[in-house]
Amino acid sequence: MKSYEALSRVYDRLNGEVDYAAIADFYEKAFARYGVRPHLTLDLGCGTGSMTLELARRGYDMIGVDASAEMLSKAYERMWNGGQSGILFLQQDMRAFELYGTVGAVVSTLDCVNYLTGDGDLDKCFSLVHNYLDPDGVFLFDVNTPYKFKHVYGDNAYILEEEDGSAYCGWQNDFDEESGLCRFLLSVFTEERDGRYARADEEQTERCYSREELTGALERAGFSEIAIFGDLHFGAPTETTERWYIAARCKK
Ligand SMILES: C[S@@+](CC[C@H](N)C(=O)[O-])C[C@H]1O[C@@H](n2cnc3c(N)ncnc32)[C@H](O)[C@@H]1O
Repeated sequence: MKSYEALSRVYDRLNGEVDYAAIADFYEKAFARYGVRPHLTLDLGCGTGSMTLELARRGYDMIGVDASAEMLSKAYERMWNGGQSGILFLQQDMRAFELYGTVGAVVSTLDCVNYLTGDGDLDKCFSLVHNYLDPDGVFLFDVNTPYKFKHVYGDNAYILEEEDGSAYCGWQNDFDEESGLCRFLLSVFTEERDGRYARADEEQTERCYSREELTGALERAGFSEIAIFGDLHFGAPTETTERWYIAARCKK
């Protein structure tokens, strides 16, 4: 199956512990630090829309872009079920997206940037983000760190389980330090009406980026005031930080 085709069925159920409100708080504080009040915000790699909907609830006008039709249809469903409307969800690739105009801020949550695995993908994505940001607009995103790829993902395997037992995901990692590529082999099991479980397999790949690769690509795209934080409180990263939160200002 395509990336996120199977996982979309259980993504929100298995991702329940992610504190999107805390990440949105961080984004709002970062907007204030950078002196930005976005008229429109792009959620790049919006997935099932958790962050898009959270920011929309806080009064931001939102656009969500994601490559996966399955993830986007969950996002739509959640928007309508939550009584929200007016969010533009677009099925596009982060390396080749087109918007109708510029936005004041771009956010990208939960390692979407690590899914840019090809040589030159970071440059393609970051230069489009720069192109569609207003002058002085802000780009906020996070990535899994090299420490996490080496010491947490490694070649480990996990079973993620929905509390009520209605869904399981078997997760096998394979990290190749030389190429920086980490393959995830996922087997998703969802309970059917008759109590039997349906299995669907998919493979995903993330790429490990160093600080230098990330800041180099941001600078080449035209970003300045680049800051890398180790937590949602603007703390400095340590050697064992698993996620970097990165902020950069669009200079034009
Ligand atoms: C870990 S999920 C994060 C989703 C969402 N931001 C969240 O916080 O729940 C990564 C998302 O990136 C999307 N993605 C991966 N590669 C992409 C690409 N090249 N262009 C657009 N979206 C992509 C996937 O479809 C998936 O929805």
